[in-house]
Amino acid sequence: MPVRPGPAWCGADRPLHSPATSRTPTVSIPILRRLHEAEPGLIEPLSALLIDAVHGGASVGFLAPLTADKAQQYWAGVMAAIGPALVLWVAEHGEQVVGTAQLSLCTKDNGRHRAELQKLLVLSTHRGHGLARRLVAAVEDFAVQHALSLLVLDTLAGSRAEGLYMHLGWHRVGEIPDYAGDPEGRLCATVVFCKRLSVRLSSVALQGC
Ligand SMILES: CC(C)(COP(=O)(O)OP(=O)(O)OC[C@H]1O[C@@H](n2cnc3c(N)ncnc32)[C@H](O)[C@@H]1OP(=O)(O)O)[C@@H](O)C(=O)NCCC(=O)NCCS
Repeated sequence: MPVRPGPAWCGADRPLHSPATSRTPTVSIPILRRLHEAEPGLIEPLSALLIDAVHGGASVGFLAPLTADKAQQYWAGVMAAIGPALVLWVAEHGEQVVGTAQLSLCTKDNGRHRAELQKLLVLSTHRGHGLARRLVAAVEDFAVQHALSLLVLDTLAGSRAEGLYMHLGWHRVGEIPDYAGDPEGRLCATVVFCKRLSVRLSSVALQGC
């Protein structure tokens, strides 16, 4: 029976079953948190997570085989970019980073109401337990709090992620053929999604046309 974690803001790494009161093995929930500044110590576990995804067939910007050097270079760049235009979440289970998501905020004058969800990754051993749902909820929660009324993303057509975003209420805008290569370099269609969020109108600089 998969463990269903609680909401993103209460993801404590607490045992679900106390060994003192139960013979059931201890199961813990990954801690989910937003990084407020670069944490170089996370570059290595984040790289392991990225390599796991790419080598598992995820189309997230890289070809297989993805070397540790290249993955670490990528995450060092992400760490350096953390700030008003890039928000990074990690889900940790002990020393491992088992999930992550990024939100890239549009900095154009006419697009400050929107942001792009990127690099939603869950370690293959931790999938199917609601971690992506928690990460997406954390991203959407952040967006609402920051008056972002439109989120967009793209993902590989026919992937598990496509089904997941539809399941989570995102609008499937359409498909672009041959948009990007999969990790083996085969050109594949990409699906574009968007989600409009209810934010306080007074806090949105731009109103819908
Ligand atoms: C896609 C991915 C992030 C999903 O992570 P996960 O932790 O296994 O997903 P969850 O367990 O949180 O699933 C969330 C919900 O989506 C549902 N879901 C998952 N895949 C689905 C599918 N193909 N069709 C319909 N619903 C689906 C789950 O049943 C769950 O619903 P519930 O909470 O109502 O029970 C993970 O498979 C992954 O990292 N893939 C490789 C990287 C990738 O492709 N990322 C997307 C890049 S944009």
